[in-house]
Amino acid sequence: MFPVIRLARVDEAGALTALCRRSKAHWGYDAAFMRLAAPALEVDAEAIGEGRVFVGVDGDDRALGVARLDILDIKPPDVAELGLLFVDPPAMGLGVGAALFRHVAAEARRRGCRRMTILADPFAAPFYERMGANCLGQAPSDAIPGRTLPLYDVDLTRPVAHEDHADAAAGAVASAPSGHLGLGQTTI
Ligand SMILES: CC(C)(COP(=O)(O)OP(=O)(O)OC[C@H]1O[C@@H](n2cnc3c(N)ncnc32)[C@H](O)[C@@H]1OP(=O)(O)O)[C@@H](O)C(=O)NCCC(=O)NCCS
Repeated sequence: MFPVIRLARVDEAGALTALCRRSKAHWGYDAAFMRLAAPALEVDAEAIGEGRVFVGVDGDDRALGVARLDILDIKPPDVAELGLLFVDPPAMGLGVGAALFRHVAAEARRRGCRRMTILADPFAAPFYERMGANCLGQAPSDAIPGRTLPLYDVDLTRPVAHEDHADAAAGAVASAPSGHLGLGQTTI
């Protein structure tokens, strides 16, 4: 099975942060933007310790991509957030992003969440649409003044793209409630 998804280790926080920076820079952002974005691209040891950071690796355990699940106090407890999702540029287009997305969705469902929001990089929007996420509109970036980003919502009561129905049913929750989705994303 490619890629293998495993929990991140605390000792690889620095290498995973560097992966996030390479991945973000892949879209062609300039140095000033990358400086402003840097804090939001950090993979912190605390999240790793809490078992919320997942790494997609190849057969030699080399990290190809990383994702973080956030469950924020400011949101209803059944709403998760995809806090980070970054694939190393040489590994893009191989299914790593989709595998990490499915893994985080399954983990959020397992923790009782019915929805997952994503404040997306505009260049990544077609990927999230391919994954079945619904665009709710635009929301402000908290890292780059004046920048707005597409806000996506994933219904975790249904299988996400290419997810096995049985896997989704295993962590099933009743149908998602409608209502306000709190913001608070830290995506840039
Ligand atoms: C967006 C990103 C995570 C996608 O990861 P990836 O591993 O390259 O994507 P995958 O190979 O898993 O693609 C899954 C599907 O999405 C499609 N897809 C991926 N990126 C796409 C894009 N930019 N435009 C259109 N479709 C795209 C693929 O064609 C594939 O479709 P398929 O299921 O029909 O085969 C990756 O490009 C990335 O890390 N980008 C830079 C950082 C970034 O912006 N991250 C998101 C922050 S919100």
